[in-house]
Amino acid sequence: MKASENSAKIGLCGLIGYPLGYTVSPIMHNAAFESLGIGYLYLPFKVRAEGLKRAIEGVRALNIRGLNVTTPHKVAIIPLLDELDPLAEKIGAVNTIVNSGGILKGYNTDAEGFLKALLERSIKPEGKSIVVLGAGGASHAVSFILAQRGANLCILNRLQGLKRAKELAGRISKISPRKARALELNRENLNGVLAEADILVNTTKVGMSPSIDETLVPAELLRPGLIVYDIVYNPVRTKLLSEAEAAGAKTIPGLEMLLRQGALAFKLWTGREAPIEVMQQAAIKWLEEYEKK
Ligand code: ATR
Repeated sequence: MKASENSAKIGLCGLIGYPLGYTVSPIMHNAAFESLGIGYLYLPFKVRAEGLKRAIEGVRALNIRGLNVTTPHKVAIIPLLDELDPLAEKIGAVNTIVNSGGILKGYNTDAEGFLKALLERSIKPEGKSIVVLGAGGASHAVSFILAQRGANLCILNRLQGLKRAKELAGRISKISPRKARALELNRENLNGVLAEADILVNTTKVGMSPSIDETLVPAELLRPGLIVYDIVYNPVRTKLLSEAEAAGAKTIPGLEMLLRQGALAFKLWTGREAPIEVMQQAAIKWLEEYEKK
């Protein structure tokens, strides 16, 4: 049954952020709602920073069931919520909101979605040396969950944002059984840390469409034995992942994290297991069409 055929039971979910030009989340979630016959709709809402507070009042007033939250609101949303899941609190960022009778609770499914793709490949972070590129919002989610699972982290950020990386490493070192390091992202440091690393994660948007010819890692530093996880999902195979594959490294595409964070949010809103294959097919179809444009 299509959502539109079940208007008496319609619930609304959506995504708030700005800008929202390329988001695949509505495609993914609406395909999932339709396939399970759940009378929900998922819509993108372009909300600028100055409109965030009013948007959240609207969520309460209109009884919108749930939201995903993206740039630039993942941190700013926190004081506007009633409750916070402990993981989201630790990370200091929210990407999913559930509205239960006017009580808004914030979660971070980015972190768990990221981790799930590793665990499903039987890759356990515990004791692994992991190099994380970037120190922004996405890196906070990824770095916290990896540290919580006992990884040794080295966070690399370009010089202008090195302070952010140092602050992140400092916060992580307080909660984690192991110390996290922060270094400037340059060739020399990359060379040094990648020689020892088990896993490399790109949390920056470098390589994302339309800048598909960009990568932060020189191809000659990639090698067999390394696992390369790029959280960029558009294109599905980024330059970093292609070069990693060519060098004999194992790769994990960002689409896996996108699908898993979406599936976790779907379950929080609906109480149902997400049909992840349906979501994957819809997302891939959309991304292939996007790449042709
Ligand atoms: P997100 O929420 O997607 O993580 P963000 O918070 O803006 O976005 O963080 C983006 C990260 O990618 C930052 O670490 C940023 O570096 P700065 O802290 O110096 O801004 C990094 N980044 C963005 N563009 C980059 C580039 N061209 N080269 C290297 N790092 C880049």
